[in-house]
Amino acid sequence: MIQTEDMEFAPRVVSPENSPEDGDAEITLRPQTLNEYIGQDKVKENLAIYIEAAKRRCEPLDHVLLYGPPGLGKTTLSAIIAHELGVNLRVTTGPAIEKPGDLVSLLTSLSDNDVLFIDEIHRLSRAVEEILYPALEDRVIDIIIGKGPSARSIRMDLKPFTLIGATTRAGQLSAPLRDRFGVIQRLELYSPEQLTDIVRRSAMILGIPCEADGAAEIAGRARGTPRIANRLLKRVRDFADVMGNGQITKQIASIALSRLEIDALGLDSLDRRMLDMIIRGYGGGPVGLETLASAIGEESVTLEDVCEPFLMQLGFLGRTPRGRCATKLAYEHLGYKFTDTAQSDDGQMTF
Ligand code: ADE
Repeated sequence: MIQTEDMEFAPRVVSPENSPEDGDAEITLRPQTLNEYIGQDKVKENLAIYIEAAKRRCEPLDHVLLYGPPGLGKTTLSAIIAHELGVNLRVTTGPAIEKPGDLVSLLTSLSDNDVLFIDEIHRLSRAVEEILYPALEDRVIDIIIGKGPSARSIRMDLKPFTLIGATTRAGQLSAPLRDRFGVIQRLELYSPEQLTDIVRRSAMILGIPCEADGAAEIAGRARGTPRIANRLLKRVRDFADVMGNGQITKQIASIALSRLEIDALGLDSLDRRMLDMIIRGYGGGPVGLETLASAIGEESVTLEDVCEPFLMQLGFLGRTPRGRCATKLAYEHLGYKFTDTAQSDDGQMTF
């Protein structure tokens, strides 16, 4: 049984964040085993070994940190890990654990070798993090009873457990917390081929007739993210039902995705606004992230976590020490003539 204590709302159809409209479908579509899980091959291979070793020794799996852009399946993987280990999974998020006492009650309610999944673990408060250190290292928690001079600290033993932490921002994790994870795995954006397989699998589970070309069309515009691919599949199905005979073809998918303002490479209006502002407002860059965010009226974390990984993967965006730059490919994609003046003074873009 999976318990979720916090969910976020995100309105963009290509937002990789969890949204209420994903609802039950996301859960229905989730693979249950590593074998069913498509992509992230290196992560899967490593996890399979660690899980098997832990099972053979009848020990909990070492604590795991999963990091990478949102929507790539961190929660799904943690559910698979718990399933493969044959233990219970508790799901929560960093901001939902407000007080140290919240974490204490979570930790003390776990059974032997259970998995506790904390999404957005970089958002834990300092006070909560401090409870976590001895819990991770020595399987104990120190509880303070009373106040002032008469306060006493009591040490409590915990059952063996595995913490799986997930974050989009590994760099924001404090070093003492990061160091307590024995397994650290980065999830990568998916290839169009892997996403095509995911769309075809999801269509089969949901009973949606979907041609291979139709699935590939959706996959090619899902910005490397299964959550987006599955959401687009459902939107395209609406077009197929109303405009066609219910079958998702390449043509129906293409019409539907254009109506959703998602272009041939999967850029949505926010991606295009961001690149357009760099090119037309700042001569191609470099421009600082905060300046760019306020110029287009968007939060800098959204640009950094959502737009940038995808635009950098496409080779449309570069980072220099002085800010973000649009590349020649971005100019060409948006139909602008590339002039190589803006980025030349301090060179080196990092991708
Ligand atoms: N649905 C969402 N992510 C998936 C994945 N990686 N493999 C299979 N189905 C999925």
